[in-house]
Amino acid sequence: MTNAVYAVTGASGHLGRLAVQELLARGVRSSDIVAIVRTRGKVADVAQRGVDVRVADYTRPDTLRTALVSVDRLLLVSSSEAGQRLAQHTNVIAAAKTAGISRILYTGILNADHTTNPLAGEHQQTERALREAGLPFTALRNGWYTENYTDRLTHYVEAGEIVGAAGHGRISAASRQDYAAAAVAALLQNSEGNRTYELGGPAFDLFELAETITRITGTNVRYRDLSLDEYVEELERSGLGEKAAEFVAALDASISRGDLETHSQDLERLLERPTTSLADVIRSTHDQRV
Ligand SMILES: NC(=O)c1ccc[n+]([C@@H]2O[C@H](COP(=O)([O-])OP(=O)(O)OC[C@H]3O[C@@H](n4cnc5c(N)ncnc54)[C@H](OP(=O)(O)O)[C@@H]3O)[C@@H](O)[C@H]2O)c1
Repeated sequence: MTNAVYAVTGASGHLGRLAVQELLARGVRSSDIVAIVRTRGKVADVAQRGVDVRVADYTRPDTLRTALVSVDRLLLVSSSEAGQRLAQHTNVIAAAKTAGISRILYTGILNADHTTNPLAGEHQQTERALREAGLPFTALRNGWYTENYTDRLTHYVEAGEIVGAAGHGRISAASRQDYAAAAVAALLQNSEGNRTYELGGPAFDLFELAETITRITGTNVRYRDLSLDEYVEELERSGLGEKAAEFVAALDASISRGDLETHSQDLERLLERPTTSLADVIRSTHDQRV
């Protein structure tokens, strides 16, 4: 293994935390891992394991420059603050350049070259900013997290249905754990130039999701597919504001157009094993809840 210092941003979040844990599991010395967070207290467990926890905010370039001192490779986990992400990511890229970082790995969006997903703009612009910065980078174009669905498992089971407007659009989702492990595999690789990985697991549509949930939980769950307008109305009835409802529905419309499907095997290749199946993610979520 190369003797290098690896930093992970968003280390207090779901994905960043898993990436730090994966670095440790892969045998990287804790003193060679930098966990970048806004709130130190959120990663006390990680600090206890000897990881170098540094505080920085994507909106404060001075904190980023300090946090990136002596770092060789950086996993930039995309910010969760949609609408402000390009400016925030640009701050990180500039600080990484100043710090002399040798490679940035960025968690973008699947099919970034042609997707029509409403969330894609900031990811596409960040990739452009990386290219323009002239610093070697790896685009980790992540598909949907399986957890986007399994986090709602209890609700689906109680309601006996999944409601959406994705039609037969297929989703190459994978677990956060798989994306984190793949990100770390890419982080540890010695690569030349820029690299792009299209990352996703075996595809399913929401009818298959409902069937798999039914099989594993023993409760009948069906997928009720609505038109876009009907879905917006349904979301509003469930308490969402108009704008939020339209946004959620637009994500399903994007799925129906195939934006979140890939036939790429990049995820399996980086993992050097099959991805965790949809059934297994549902099963472990179900087991934790019963
Ligand atoms: N592929 C998908 O299905 C999918 C789904 C959801 C999100 N995402 C994207 O993937 C990213 C990682 O996912 P996740 O599940 O790990 O999200 P998450 O749990 O919400 O974590 C987001 C991380 O970003 C940090 N962050 C937010 N704003 C920041 C700022 N101004 N400065 C520094 N750090 C900041 C958060 O820090 P705090 O703990 O301080 O808030 C947190 O550590 C998300 O941020 C989002 O861009 C993808």
